[in-house]
Amino acid sequence: MSLVELKNVFQDYSDGNDVIHALKKTNLSINAGEFVAIIGPSGSGKSTLLTIMGGLQKPSGGSVTLNKKSFSRASPKRRTELRFQEIGFILQASNLVPYLTVEKQLKLIDKVAKKPFNIKKADALLGSLGILSLKNKYPSDLSGGERQRASIARALYSNPSLILADEPTASLDTSRAFEVVQILAEETKKLNKATVMVTHDERLLSYCDKVYVINDGVLTDRTKQYLNK
Ligand SMILES: Nc1ncnc2c1ncn2[C@@H]1O[C@H](COP(=O)(O)OP(=O)(O)OP(=O)(O)O)[C@@H](O)[C@H]1O
Ligand SMILES: [Mg+2]
Repeated sequence: MSLVELKNVFQDYSDGNDVIHALKKTNLSINAGEFVAIIGPSGSGKSTLLTIMGGLQKPSGGSVTLNKKSFSRASPKRRTELRFQEIGFILQASNLVPYLTVEKQLKLIDKVAKKPFNIKKADALLGSLGILSLKNKYPSDLSGGERQRASIARALYSNPSLILADEPTASLDTSRAFEVVQILAEETKKLNKATVMVTHDERLLSYCDKVYVINDGVLTDRTKQYLNK
């Protein structure tokens, strides 16, 4: 059974008297252990799809299930709970809290969940991402690549089943971008997560298992074309 399942999902926005069909009827299923890329031009519906998958907004129609739990029928409160338990977000400009050290970004997650801080788990995770020695630094003291690795650590710390990354490499130079995507690919396999990454950079697709293209709200599987598989 797939981890994420979208059935007949669509999203309309009203724009005065007009309706924008930002996402047309979409069916998509993603398995655990899969690293999925979504590419497409600006305004094509990538962020719309990602925010629906992540329960940040309810679609105009259709159903979204994550780990067999329904997102699309959940109340806003339940959606927030599900999001917190099941999903890790990595955003374009890293969404770290500026006044917290790297370690405290992780501590905050336990604090919100009213759990004791698991320093062993935090150290192991930071170690595997190569930033353990930076744990007492603030985001402003890190390089772009280090900040994105800290964002990945934070996204993984709560042990989510799904990781959603919207342009995670946008602020990075080429070698850092490759490094960050390689880490994402490795963690996806090692921890049997599902990862969905929106990217503009076609060179990064070789790390992915599936490639979807979205154009004017229509999602198409282009894995064969991009990855020969
Ligand atoms: N809250 C909103 N209200 C009205 N229209 C919206 C809203 N959010 C997005 N849109 C429109 O829906 C379409 C898809 O937007 P979306 O943000 O999903 O595109 P995108 O592929 O992520 O683009 P980009 O690459 O620029 O981030 C666009 O036409 C956009 O103007
Ligand atoms: Mg976007």
